[in-house]
Amino acid sequence: MKMDDVYSALRNVSHPELEKDLVSEGFVKDLTVEGNRVILSLMLPETKRNIEGELRKLIEDAVKAIPWAESVEIQVNYTGAQKAKPKGGISKKREIPGVRHVIAVTSGKGGVGKSTVAANLALALEHLGYKVGLFDGDIYGPSIPKMFGIERLLPRVENNKMIPVERYGIKILSIGLMIEEDTPIIWRGPLVHKAYEQFFFDANWGELDFLIVDFPPGTGDPQISAAQLTIIRGGVAVTTPQDVSIQDVKKAIRMLEKMDVPMIGVIENMSYFKCPKCGYKSYIFGTGGGERLVKEMGVKLLGQIPIDPKFTSSGDTGIPVMILGENLEVKEVFKDVARKVAQKAEELEKIVAA
Ligand SMILES: Nc1ncnc2c1ncn2[C@@H]1O[C@H](COP(=O)(O)OP(=O)(O)OP(=O)(O)O)[C@@H](O)[C@H]1O
Ligand SMILES: [Mg+2]
Repeated sequence: MKMDDVYSALRNVSHPELEKDLVSEGFVKDLTVEGNRVILSLMLPETKRNIEGELRKLIEDAVKAIPWAESVEIQVNYTGAQKAKPKGGISKKREIPGVRHVIAVTSGKGGVGKSTVAANLALALEHLGYKVGLFDGDIYGPSIPKMFGIERLLPRVENNKMIPVERYGIKILSIGLMIEEDTPIIWRGPLVHKAYEQFFFDANWGELDFLIVDFPPGTGDPQISAAQLTIIRGGVAVTTPQDVSIQDVKKAIRMLEKMDVPMIGVIENMSYFKCPKCGYKSYIFGTGGGERLVKEMGVKLLGQIPIDPKFTSSGDTGIPVMILGENLEVKEVFKDVARKVAQKAEELEKIVAA
């Protein structure tokens, strides 16, 4: 097949700035072969350095090395080029002082383990040597303070800035530090926006490599506010393997796209249960949800987290799983996910924000 020849050739061409091959990154959008003529279009993220000429040359050389190929026509498009800019009246995005990458943890549906993943991802990044903050963006039902055993530890204020509470090496802020548990707050859009603004900018986060934001479920005001206020480097979507949840995570992905937040990848939580006696992994909700998502939506599966009662109990004791002394396999899974998140964040940093 001629198409296969072209795909294999393009697999050997790497984007000059991002150092990723064109095919596995999904940069090749349309490919046709007419006789001995190759016609293709690319969809590329905008990079700070203009690489178009260089890339065209690399593709031409690769295609012309195919024995039957005579010519190649390349059309280059850029993601975000025709996206609507935010309407007037909304304040401009600001960087959070000292913070290098803001990472959003989202899902379309509640209860899939976003907060659990956000907390352990933050800790895994810290274990890799990064400076990490965790902002509990769930102002409706904050759960981070309990998970870290820091409920009602009111943040200090210095020079009119909130100082995040530090636990296990992570700097944490949450509305849950300031209010009684189960106090219902009616948050309307403008108030949500204001709350986010204060947690981002009226706090002294210090120097951070990563600020992880644990969002409430769904695709509502908080996500919109956060993306309007600051540059979010990338989003991580949490899903469980069931079909419904996959549908929901698709919503979360679309939301991130709408907000111009690049998708880093998907973490499949509660993927399987490993028998503590024999080590057999049973995939209770079925397998392949995460992989299907990768196929259908072109997003990466960053890792699969097993169902483990330790997560539930650690939620109660305030000692996250990453902090448990035992030699747990799942800690390695989180570290692996953290490495991938860090690597992608660095890549995305090179891309011009839309
Ligand atoms: N892999 C896991 N194994 C076992 N229990 C888990 C796992 N992940 C999460 N849980 C448990 O599932 C419950 C929901 O998790 P969590 O609070 O992290 O979800 P969430 O998506 O943040 O929920 P919400 O949408 O309400 O914010 C918690 O009791 C948590 O301990
Ligand atoms: Mg949560």
